[in-house]
Amino acid sequence: MDDALPRVHAMPNDLNAFWMPFTSNRQFKSAPRFVVGAKGMYYTAADGRQILDSTAGLWCVNAGHCAPRIVEAIRRQAGELDYSPAFQMGHPRAFDLASRLAGLMPGNLDHVFFVNSGSESVDTALKIALAYHHVRGEGQRTRLVGREKGYHGVGFGGISVGGIVNNRKFFGTLLTGVDHLPHTHNLEHQAFSRGQPEWGAHLADDLERICALHDPSTIAAVIVEPFAGSAGVLLPPKGYLEKLRAICDQHGILLIFDEVITGFGRLGAPFAVDYFGVQPDLVTTAKGITNGAIPMGAVFARDDIYQTFMDSAADGAIELFHGYTYSAHPLACAAAHAALDTYLEDGLFERAAEMAPYWEDALHSLKGTRHVIDIRNLGMVGAVELEPRPGAPGKRTFEAFLKLYDAGIMSRVTGDIIALTPPLIIDRSQIDQIVDSIRDVLPTVD
Ligand SMILES: Cc1ncc(COP(=O)(O)O)c(C=O)c1O
Repeated sequence: MDDALPRVHAMPNDLNAFWMPFTSNRQFKSAPRFVVGAKGMYYTAADGRQILDSTAGLWCVNAGHCAPRIVEAIRRQAGELDYSPAFQMGHPRAFDLASRLAGLMPGNLDHVFFVNSGSESVDTALKIALAYHHVRGEGQRTRLVGREKGYHGVGFGGISVGGIVNNRKFFGTLLTGVDHLPHTHNLEHQAFSRGQPEWGAHLADDLERICALHDPSTIAAVIVEPFAGSAGVLLPPKGYLEKLRAICDQHGILLIFDEVITGFGRLGAPFAVDYFGVQPDLVTTAKGITNGAIPMGAVFARDDIYQTFMDSAADGAIELFHGYTYSAHPLACAAAHAALDTYLEDGLFERAAEMAPYWEDALHSLKGTRHVIDIRNLGMVGAVELEPRPGAPGKRTFEAFLKLYDAGIMSRVTGDIIALTPPLIIDRSQIDQIVDSIRDVLPTVD
């Protein structure tokens, strides 16, 4: 069968058994939206329609769907070495991949711990931070600081430092000893900013208040997304990340950047670390590491953090009691190598940087469209925020999402925000198609 053609799929008779994640199950199951294939910028829907992907899957398919090198690498690997344990054993591609990744990451973030998702990446980084202070004799540093509206996945660590209320309120007391910085979103001062807002660097100073309250000697780490993605593309004000770095340095606190969505080109640079020029101590990644094709994540650690663990344990002892059955899975490593080949050989990070000004202008042309109260952009990320429908937050945007899907655009909504994060292979006419569809759809939504 020709791989370019989507296979014919029988639709399921029963939608009941699959408990869908982060989905209104009842809404979906009453009017399901099935995709059965994907290639490049497009999904194929069950009814044969081509749906333009304006969100790179869930911020992961940066090189477009079914990128040929990645498809081939997974096929080959599956027939050669399907699995091997990463505990007390290794396979060569894992070591090569770690070296390649460390080479791509700026500064001395030279060591890579493999995981299977963004959530695991975050929990791993938090555990490394706590254990690092422990093994170097500062075990009283147990507090973690996150940020309001932050999203760090769904593990207990991630939801504890995260700041999205619905991800927290159902799940008990979470981790203890966690505090939160204020979020950086303020429409009064920032609406319709292009790129990083001018206003708001002072919000980082709240870390000094948290230090004064708990005493900095009790704080292990601060974790932030360089910009908050899942909460609706909330951008760091100019100078904000630099301030966080300076305050962490002053008090011996580790700074963790959660680059699960910013890593691998989203901002037109390999990582947000490159883009912002601010160097954290630990970086979490996932998603684009394999172009979304096989689950994988990776935590990057500063050289001296790794060395501290190596020096702390007796000969032959395990230095870090942590890891997953599928850490450095051979298929994931093969997919990640091929994803890196694709990004680098096809110049996709540079392409994203070149396309960003066109993207910015196109998005901001929506100013004045019905319901739009803000437009934000950075690199190949955009958000269109709508006035919430009185008494029904999120409803208007969800209706827009459904209508956009009918119009052939896969979008992603969070609260009253349409978030747009296309594959980096997008061209100008496809950008126009996304923006024109939003312009057409919004006036038809009440
Ligand atoms: C910043 C950030 N961290 C962590 C995660 C969690 O990743 P996963 O869904 O792979 O566990 C996400 C997912 O969107 C994310 O955006």
